[in-house]
Amino acid sequence: MPSITFIEHDGTKHVVEIDAGTTARDAAIDNDIPGIDGDCGGNCACATCHVFVADEWIDATGKAEPESNEAELLQFADDYKDNSRLACQIPVTDDLDGLVLHTPMGQH
Ligand code: FES
Repeated sequence: MPSITFIEHDGTKHVVEIDAGTTARDAAIDNDIPGIDGDCGGNCACATCHVFVADEWIDATGKAEPESNEAELLQFADDYKDNSRLACQIPVTDDLDGLVLHTPMGQH
Protein backbone atom coordinates (compact mmCIF):
# COMPACT_ATOMS: atom_id res chain seq x y z
CA MET A 1 0.00 0.00 0.00
CA PRO A 2 1.65 3.28 -1.10
CA SER A 3 2.34 5.95 1.49
CA ILE A 4 2.13 9.69 0.92
CA THR A 5 3.66 12.36 3.12
CA PHE A 6 1.75 15.64 3.28
CA ILE A 7 3.76 18.53 4.69
CA GLU A 8 1.95 21.65 5.90
CA HIS A 9 3.39 25.13 5.35
CA ASP A 10 4.69 25.11 8.94
CA GLY A 11 6.54 21.84 8.42
CA THR A 12 4.02 19.56 10.15
CA LYS A 13 4.17 16.13 8.47
CA HIS A 14 1.37 13.66 7.99
CA VAL A 15 2.28 10.23 6.62
CA VAL A 16 -0.72 8.32 5.31
CA GLU A 17 -1.27 5.04 3.50
CA ILE A 18 -3.74 4.75 0.67
CA ASP A 19 -4.79 2.03 -1.75
CA ALA A 20 -3.38 2.24 -5.25
CA GLY A 21 -6.11 3.17 -7.71
CA THR A 22 -7.36 6.14 -5.72
CA THR A 23 -6.00 9.70 -5.82
CA ALA A 24 -3.81 11.89 -3.66
CA ARG A 25 -6.96 13.95 -2.95
CA ASP A 26 -8.69 10.88 -1.54
CA ALA A 27 -5.64 10.16 0.60
CA ALA A 28 -5.88 13.66 2.05
CA ILE A 29 -9.63 13.64 2.62
CA ASP A 30 -9.68 10.15 4.14
CA ASN A 31 -7.01 11.25 6.61
CA ASP A 32 -8.27 14.78 7.41
CA ILE A 33 -5.15 16.50 6.09
CA PRO A 34 -5.42 20.22 6.97
CA GLY A 35 -5.64 22.52 3.97
CA ILE A 36 -7.04 19.96 1.52
CA ASP A 37 -10.79 20.34 1.26
CA GLY A 38 -11.45 18.71 -2.10
CA ASP A 39 -14.86 20.36 -2.24
CA CYS A 40 -15.87 19.18 -5.70
CA GLY A 41 -15.39 15.53 -4.83
CA GLY A 42 -12.38 15.07 -7.05
CA ASN A 43 -13.99 16.31 -10.26
CA CYS A 44 -11.34 18.89 -11.13
CA ALA A 45 -13.69 21.81 -10.57
CA CYS A 46 -12.70 23.59 -7.35
CA ALA A 47 -8.90 23.73 -6.84
CA THR A 48 -9.28 23.21 -3.08
CA CYS A 49 -6.99 20.19 -3.40
CA HIS A 50 -4.04 22.30 -4.60
CA VAL A 51 -0.65 20.89 -3.57
CA PHE A 52 3.00 21.44 -4.41
CA VAL A 53 4.83 18.32 -5.55
CA ALA A 54 8.26 17.89 -3.93
CA ASP A 55 11.01 18.40 -6.51
CA GLU A 56 12.17 14.79 -6.45
CA TRP A 57 8.66 13.56 -7.34
CA ILE A 58 7.83 15.85 -10.25
CA ASP A 59 9.01 13.39 -12.88
CA ALA A 60 6.94 10.60 -11.33
CA THR A 61 3.72 12.61 -10.98
CA GLY A 62 4.09 14.65 -14.15
CA LYS A 63 2.76 18.16 -14.53
CA ALA A 64 -0.68 19.49 -15.37
CA GLU A 65 -1.27 19.12 -19.09
CA PRO A 66 -1.23 22.52 -20.83
CA GLU A 67 -4.75 23.80 -21.56
CA SER A 68 -6.30 21.08 -19.39
CA ASN A 69 -8.99 21.87 -16.83
CA GLU A 70 -6.37 21.28 -14.18
CA ALA A 71 -3.96 23.84 -15.66
CA GLU A 72 -6.75 26.41 -16.01
CA LEU A 73 -7.89 25.98 -12.40
CA LEU A 74 -4.36 26.13 -11.08
CA GLN A 75 -3.83 29.56 -12.58
CA PHE A 76 -6.32 30.90 -10.07
CA ALA A 77 -5.05 28.88 -7.09
CA ASP A 78 -3.34 30.58 -4.18
CA ASP A 79 0.44 30.67 -4.44
CA TYR A 80 0.49 28.98 -7.86
CA LYS A 81 3.95 27.62 -8.66
CA ASP A 82 5.67 25.53 -11.29
CA ASN A 83 5.23 22.40 -9.17
CA SER A 84 1.54 22.99 -8.46
CA ARG A 85 -0.90 20.14 -9.04
CA LEU A 86 -4.44 19.32 -8.08
CA ALA A 87 -4.28 16.30 -5.82
CA CYS A 88 -7.43 14.86 -7.39
CA GLN A 89 -5.53 14.63 -10.67
CA ILE A 90 -2.68 12.59 -9.19
CA PRO A 91 -3.60 8.90 -9.41
CA VAL A 92 -1.98 6.84 -6.69
CA THR A 93 0.06 3.93 -7.99
CA ASP A 94 2.58 1.66 -6.30
CA ASP A 95 5.29 3.65 -8.09
CA LEU A 96 4.34 6.71 -6.03
CA ASP A 97 5.09 5.00 -2.72
CA GLY A 98 6.84 7.67 -0.64
CA LEU A 99 5.37 10.63 -2.56
CA VAL A 100 5.82 13.99 -0.81
CA LEU A 101 3.26 16.77 -1.27
CA HIS A 102 3.29 20.20 0.35
CA THR A 103 0.08 22.06 1.16
CA PRO A 104 -0.17 25.80 0.38
CA MET A 105 -0.29 28.29 3.24
CA GLY A 106 -3.27 30.02 1.64
CA GLN A 107 -5.47 26.96 2.09
CA HIS A 108 -5.14 26.89 5.88
FE1 FES B 1 -11.89 19.80 -6.60
FE2 FES B 1 -9.54 18.56 -6.90
S1 FES B 1 -11.11 18.12 -5.49
S2 FES B 1 -10.36 20.23 -8.04
